[in-house]
Amino acid sequence: MGIGMNAGVVLEGVTKAFGPVTVIPELDLSVAEGEFVVLVGPSGCGKSTTLRMIAGLEKVTKGSISIAGRDVTWERPKARDIAMVFQSYALYPHMNVAENMSFALRLAGTPKAEIADRVQRSAEMLELTPYLERKPRDLSGGQRQRVAMGRAVVRDAYCFLFDEPLSNLDAKLRASMRTELALLHQKLGRTMIYVTHDQIEAMTMADRIVIMRDGLIQQVGTPKEVYNDPVNTFVATFIGSPSMTLLDAELSEENGALSAAGQGFKLPLPDRLRERASAAGARQISVGLRPEHFAGDAIDDNFAPIDLAVKVAEYIGSSQFLAAEVGGKAITAAVEVGPEANLLSDGKYFFDTRRIYLFDRESGNAL
Ligand SMILES: Nc1ncnc2c1ncn2[C@@H]1O[C@H](COP(=O)(O)OP(=O)(O)O)[C@@H](O)[C@H]1O
Ligand SMILES: [Mg+2]
Repeated sequence: MGIGMNAGVVLEGVTKAFGPVTVIPELDLSVAEGEFVVLVGPSGCGKSTTLRMIAGLEKVTKGSISIAGRDVTWERPKARDIAMVFQSYALYPHMNVAENMSFALRLAGTPKAEIADRVQRSAEMLELTPYLERKPRDLSGGQRQRVAMGRAVVRDAYCFLFDEPLSNLDAKLRASMRTELALLHQKLGRTMIYVTHDQIEAMTMADRIVIMRDGLIQQVGTPKEVYNDPVNTFVATFIGSPSMTLLDAELSEENGALSAAGQGFKLPLPDRLRERASAAGARQISVGLRPEHFAGDAIDDNFAPIDLAVKVAEYIGSSQFLAAEVGGKAITAAVEVGPEANLLSDGKYFFDTRRIYLFDRESGNAL
């Protein structure tokens, strides 16, 4: 029970099978009203299928979906008060921007004055006012994508669904559209569910991130939570760029101090991990080191030395990315040395031990 009781978007025990193949084994998810939630995960993990079930474009095999406190599991898409923006948006080439945006409203028989008003307000929000008379062919890729969003915005649905809307745009445009989407969410204050395989998009826009793998939710949390406290190695290596390195290690205790030691390194563990690591006993572990927690110098007592054999150093500007090895295993480091530094080479680097992650090697679960 409880379905249909909460506002927002609630999925309970949702299962999806295509013929004999189950792609969503069972999914529970609760999106609060007004929240911006991003579903993220590798290609094929079931993000679009989940979104399409919320939209009503795909039937659930089992389970239920409620929107705004109403059970819509068997409702048609039109009855769900949602608006959806896809990756590939087909604008009508013979209609101008205003006509493209107002198409659904005209179809629904909305009064002319109201249509004009809504188009004008939506165009302002999306900075499309100067282009209302233009045809799609006379717009840039980013402007066209904004028109596609405009078509959704004019309808002012309870919930907006986005399926990789920025995937076809170049990197620079994607970055500016991320900001615009965040602004749009602020202005509209509507519930938004956004699907992407790009963890940067997820991290920058989401109130909460839902990380999926093989149709299963791995973790739900704020960007801070999934970055700082990933539940397993999948989340740990998926979130963050460049990715966290995982190294086989064993716990060793010396004079009451606990360390994680492996081929070519020994790192003292911070208080945060001491108890958890002890409780884990003598189990084999993996140590997780994020590239950005390396430094060229020991900034304070929390930094422990680690020898890196540097294969390639990439100059980024203020920092350099190192493709390196420790004890013969590949490791990535991002070291801030200022823009004037020469390319870095083999030697002693330092790691902020407060930022160490530990995982059970067999299960991959965080300690
Ligand atoms: N209509 C369909 N028929 C059969 N299999 C499908 C269909 N749609 C999606 N799938 C499968 O379901 C899985 C999840 O797909 P999808 O939801 O599109 O993943 P994502 O959006 O995360 O890339 C994939 O293995 C895909 O091949
Ligand atoms: Mg998809």
